[in-house]
This record gives sequence, C-alpha cells and structure tokens, in this order.
Amino acid sequence: MRAGLYILYPISLDDFEPLSPQVLSFHSIRATSQKLVSPSMRVPNATNNPNKVQLTRITHVYFDHPNLEAFTEFAEAWGFVEARRVGDTIYYRGYGRDQYVYVATKATTKAFRGAAFVAANKAEFDKAAKLPGATVSDLMNAPGGGQLVSFAPETNLYFHVIYGQTDREEPKEPPTATHDFQGPYNSALDKERKGRFQRYHEGPAMVHKLGHYGVICENFDSAIKWYTENFNFVYSDVLYSPDDEGTDIIAFMRLDRGKKFVDHHCVFLARQEKPGTGTYVHHTSYEIEDFDTQLLGHDWLRKKGYRSAWGVGRHILASQIFDYWRDTSGFKIEHYADGDVLNNTHKTGRDVAGAMAIWGPELPKDFMIDHSMLDD
Ligand SMILES: [Fe+2]
Repeated sequence: MRAGLYILYPISLDDFEPLSPQVLSFHSIRATSQKLVSPSMRVPNATNNPNKVQLTRITHVYFDHPNLEAFTEFAEAWGFVEARRVGDTIYYRGYGRDQYVYVATKATTKAFRGAAFVAANKAEFDKAAKLPGATVSDLMNAPGGGQLVSFAPETNLYFHVIYGQTDREEPKEPPTATHDFQGPYNSALDKERKGRFQRYHEGPAMVHKLGHYGVICENFDSAIKWYTENFNFVYSDVLYSPDDEGTDIIAFMRLDRGKKFVDHHCVFLARQEKPGTGTYVHHTSYEIEDFDTQLLGHDWLRKKGYRSAWGVGRHILASQIFDYWRDTSGFKIEHYADGDVLNNTHKTGRDVAGAMAIWGPELPKDFMIDHSMLDD
C-alpha cells in the first residue's frame, strides 16, 4: 500500500457515467486489478435503521495534556473560549449551541479520550447505555449538565454519547476577534459593496463548533463495523487503495438525519497501513466563520510561534478550506470553513485515493504520522 493519504475525486458509483478522465481511469483500474480484489477488505454496507442508536450531532472531544498551562495559551490563540474550570479540567466552548467543544485535562500522559455525540432523545441514550462495554456517568460538574455513555471499544479509540445537556443560546451574528467591518464580497462582475471598506485587525479565529475528527485504526474493519452497526453513521465517501481496489482505506462518515442536511463527515476512519504502529487520532477539526477569519487566524498562530502542520488550502472531498496545526502536545488540530453539507439524497462516493487538496501548500511528508508520539 502506498504511504500517505490519499483522497480523491468525488465520483458516485450510483451515478456512474464514463464522461471524465477520472472515470475512465477508474474503469481501467477496475479492469486490470480484478485478481487483487478481496471483498473482505471493503467496508460493509451501512444503511440506517431504527434499531441503531440515533445520534444528532458531534459535540465535543476529550484530551489529556501533561502541560495544561501551555495548552491553555494555545487554546486562547486557537479561538476557544474558556467556559468552566473544574480542578485540572478546562471546558472550552465555541460560539455555537454546544456548551463546550473541547475538554482538556491535566494528566501525566498525553492522550485523546474520544469524541461525544448527542443522542436524539432519552430512548436513544438508553439504547446506547445498553450496548456492550457501555458505562454511564453524570455530568453534574460540566457546563449544561447531562449524562454520558462512554465506550473504549479498542485501544485508544474512545467514544461517548451525551444526553440531557442544555444548549447555549446561539448568537444572531457570529462573534469575531478580527473583523471590524465586513460587507459583501465584491466580485469581478458584481460590486455589491459600494463606498464601504473591508476592515480587519489581528487576532484569533473564533471557533464555532467541533466539526469532525479522524482516527487511524489498527483494527479498521472492526472499528467501521462498530460505528456503522451500532449507530446511524453512513458513508459520504469511501476511498480504496491505489494498489488494490478491494482494500478500502478510508471512510468519511456523516450521521444519517434523513432529509436534514448535515456536514459531509463528522468522523473519518482510516486503515493503519503499517500494522503494529497503533491506533491514534489523526486530527480534530473546528469550524470557523469564513476565509478571512481563516487567514487571520493562521497569521495569529504563526506569530505566536505555533507549528503549522498543513495549510491553508482547500480539500476536494467535503470542499473545506483547511488549516492544520500542531497543539502544544503535538496533536494535529484543524480550522475549517465552507464545508459541504449532505442529506439522504446523497449516494455514497467510492473511488481510488488520490490528491487531498485542489489548492494549497504541498502535502508534508509527515502529515499522517502521530506527532503526539514525537513531541514533548
Ligand atoms: Fe479534517
């Protein structure tokens, strides 16, 4: 299998029409690699049904940081807002409805402790609590309260379901730490902003919400099965190895909400290509308002001396304008803007892994590794 990742042109097999060079190349790969096809290495079908636990959105992640003080400074420069501090735990929020999007705890060892998703109702929460390996806890000290079901289905792959947390009131206008005035964008042919000036100042990119996370999985096949058999995750796009059409290597999953449009993915799982090198979070990703916010936030982090991991650029799948950094423990963390939203009319795309960006800096060779294992 080829090193690195991968990602490509969004072609739906369901809508297959041999019109573009990409489609033709897909055809030729298929024709020449039949003997390599091994169906067991493909992701299983994932269709939602009422027996599965229904989740409505991703809400927050948990991380352990040995140097919580250093992370606190980074979090401020990142655009998080401290919502509450309880002992050695800090709850950070964005400006969306979630009470917090990131929970940082001081610990001796750095660790990703999983993401939390909101159960559609109490019955769905109770259903999650009955799944094998579930433990239930009360969130009496956390902003908004509620209850949490937690799983550790495999080493370093944690997962949580929350219910009963009160929502924050969403702002009418996005708060900003950088925009003095931003009117309409004056395009070449349409100058809607007349006699007014775009004005900005330096500052962090304020975070709206947690958008997604990605995990490189040693046990990719069982992890995919666990997500899709127990919950309403469906595939937006699946990519297979350039060396073997029968080996799927990454699945971008969204929550099936029927006709309601949701983010292209709230989680991706990728196959660990080097067995024995472990399961680890690749990055967590947070939505910000727009392109100017993205670039101003990038400059702010650069001037503060933090380490860029990749960006600014625009992804092909999901279309996001992305900007990846390394936090003070080495975990990769992303700002994104302008992502795609899909509903149940979308047919899963399946294609060969390829370029990850339509524009942006060259992909760093170390982008897929676990930097938290290197940084101290
Ligand atoms: Fe991302």
